[in-house]
Amino acid sequence: MTLESFSPITNEWYYPSEEVLRNAYIADYDAVYREADADIEAFWAKQAQNLDWFRTWEQVLDSSNPPFYQWFVGGKTNIAHNALDRHIKTARKNKLALIWEGEPGDKQTYSYYRLWREVNRFANVLKSMGVKKGDRVTIYMGRIPELLIAMVACAKIGAVHSVIYGGFSEQALADRIEDAQSRVLVTCDGAWLRGNIVKLKDVVDEAVRKTPVIESIIVVKRTGQPVNMEQGRDYWYHDLVALPIASPICETAVMDAEDPLFILYTSGTTGKPKGILHTHGGYQVYTSTTLSWVFDVKDEDRYWCAADPGWITGHSYIVYAPLIIGATSFMYEGAPNHPYPNRWWRLIEEYGITILYTAPTAIRGLMRFGDAWPNRHDLSSLRLLGSVGEPINPEAWKWFYNVIGKGRCPIMDTWWQTETGGFMITPLPSVGLKPGSATRPFPGIKVDVVDEAGDPVPPGTDGNLVIQRPWPAMLRTIYGDPDRFVKQYWSAYAKQGWYLTGDTARKDEDGYIWIIGRNDDVIKVSGYRLGTAEIESGLVSHPAVAEAAAIGIPDEVRGSVIYAYCILRAGHQPSEELRDALKEHVRHEIGPIAVPAKIEFVDVLPKTRSGKIMRRVLRARAMGQPEGDLSTLEG
Ligand code: WT7
Repeated sequence: MTLESFSPITNEWYYPSEEVLRNAYIADYDAVYREADADIEAFWAKQAQNLDWFRTWEQVLDSSNPPFYQWFVGGKTNIAHNALDRHIKTARKNKLALIWEGEPGDKQTYSYYRLWREVNRFANVLKSMGVKKGDRVTIYMGRIPELLIAMVACAKIGAVHSVIYGGFSEQALADRIEDAQSRVLVTCDGAWLRGNIVKLKDVVDEAVRKTPVIESIIVVKRTGQPVNMEQGRDYWYHDLVALPIASPICETAVMDAEDPLFILYTSGTTGKPKGILHTHGGYQVYTSTTLSWVFDVKDEDRYWCAADPGWITGHSYIVYAPLIIGATSFMYEGAPNHPYPNRWWRLIEEYGITILYTAPTAIRGLMRFGDAWPNRHDLSSLRLLGSVGEPINPEAWKWFYNVIGKGRCPIMDTWWQTETGGFMITPLPSVGLKPGSATRPFPGIKVDVVDEAGDPVPPGTDGNLVIQRPWPAMLRTIYGDPDRFVKQYWSAYAKQGWYLTGDTARKDEDGYIWIIGRNDDVIKVSGYRLGTAEIESGLVSHPAVAEAAAIGIPDEVRGSVIYAYCILRAGHQPSEELRDALKEHVRHEIGPIAVPAKIEFVDVLPKTRSGKIMRRVLRARAMGQPEGDLSTLEG
C-alpha cells in the first residue's frame, strides 16, 4: 500500500435526485455498459456518427499490430471542423462558446462565430510563418482565450501543438521544445497570478537561449510590462492578426483520423519528459461522448472546468470536447483566492455556473477558509460537480457535496490520465455514489485490479489497475520513442495485452473502484504529476549536490508534498542558505510546483545492492514508521 492512501472503502451511498435523473442522458448505466460490451466497434461507430467526417472510416479498430492500435482507419476528419466550422452553419453560431474573466476583473465573451473567426485569423498567421501539416508548435501561456485559439488554430491547419503549462520554468520548457523540435512558439508577456505578474516571456527568452530550434516567437500582450522583443524573431500577436494575411477565413486541413493532433508532456519514471501523442479521430469521438454523458452538458448549461488548458484536463475538457458538443464554457485566469477566498463562489453566482469540475487540492484549499465564504453567495445555479487528478478524501468530498452543492449536486469523480485522453473510471449522474470512489468504468471501457500474474485480486485488496481493451482516445505512442511506449505501458502484462496504468487500486463488493495512488516513481503534488527522477536531476544539476532522492509525503491540502534528501559534494557544508538556494534552483529549473517542502542533507542514501534508491525506506523514516523489510538494503 502506498502512503498517499486516503480512501478507506466505505459503504455510504449517495443517490441522485429525481431531477438529476430526469436530466440524465444515460438513465441506465448497466444497459449501456452491456450494449457497448457486446459489440465495442459498433458502439464507438455509433458515437462517431454524431460528428462530421470528410470521409467515413473503413475500419473502426485495427488491432493487427498491438499495442499500436488505430481507430477509424481510413476516416478523414479534423477536430477543428467538429469544434467550430460545423457550428457556424447552425444557430450555434450565435451561442456563447466562451465566457472569460481575467484575474484583474476584465471580461471577454466569444460567440462560436467570433471564436471561429479568431481561430481562422491565427491559423492564417501560423501558415504565413511557414507552419505546415505535421509541424510542432509550442504554446506556453497563461489561462487566456488566445491559448485556446492558438491550440485550435494549430489543429485547423494540421499542425501539432505542444502546450507547456505556464508553471514550468526554463529548463523544463527548453527540454520540451527540443524534444518536439518546434520552430514556432506562442507565448504571452506575462500571466496574472495572485495580483502578481508571472513573467512568461522572460522564461521563454532564457529557454530559447538553451535550444537553437525556435525561429519565431509570437507574443500576446496580456500584462503589459516591458519585455524584450528581438527583431526578426519576436512578433506581437496583435500586430500579426491585424495584417492582411490574417484573413478570418481559413481552409480546414483534411486530416487522417490517425494524424497527430497534439503532444502533451508528462512525467514518468525517468527524468526525460514523455511526449504523449494523441490523434484527431478517436480523440474527438471519445472526449465528446464522455463529456456529454458524464457532465450531462445541455444548451442551458454554463460549464466551468477550472483546470489549466496546459494539462490534459484542459485539452480534453476545456478546449476540445466542450466546443465539439457546442457547450458554453467559462474560464477564469487567476488564483481561486484572489483577492479574497470567495472569488470562485462569486464567479459561480455572477455567471450562473451550472457545472463545476475541479481538483481535490483546490477543494481542500478552499475548504480551509471556512464555510462563511461560500455561504455568502447564491450557488443555487449549480447542478453537477466534478473532481479529478488524485483521490478525493471523503471529508473533502462531503464538504464539496454539502457546502458547495447543498446536497443537490452529484460529484463526478473522474479517474483518467494524460495517456487515456478522457474519463475512464467515472460515475454518470444517474448512478449511486460512494464518497472517495470513482465508481465504475465508462461504457466500452474494461478495467480490473490484478496481481503481478494478472489474476484479479479479491475485493478490498490492493492490486494493479489495468485497462484490458483499447479505447478511441488512447495514447498512440510516446513522441519519438515507440520503444519506451511499449515498455512503459504494455510490457508488464504483455501476454494479456493489457495497459498498465501505474496506479494501485481496490475493488469493493459492488465492483466499485477505489484509487489508492501511484505505485511508480510519480508524485502527485496538488494534482500535478511529477517524477522523482525529474526533481532529483533538477537538484543534482546544482554544483553543491552530488546525489539526491525525492519522495512524496501525504499532505492535507496538496495530497502530497516533496521531501528531498541531498548528499553534498566535497567542500560544501549544509546550511540554511544552501537549502534556500537549492529550492530556488529547482524553482528556476523545473518550476514552482517541483520545489521540495523540505530538504534534508544526508551522508548516505538507503540503496539496494544494485544501487537503486529505496524511497520506501526514506518515506517510512520521514513518517516515523517502521522501515519494513531491509534485507535488500546495501551493507
Ligand atoms: C494520475 C494521472 C486526468 C487528468 C488529470 C491527471 C491520478 C487522476 C484521479 C481520480 C484518483 C486520480 C492517478 C492517475 N488521478 N484522476 N479521480 N482519483 N486518482 O492526469 O497528470 O496524467 O495524472 O492522476 O494517479 O494515474 P495526469
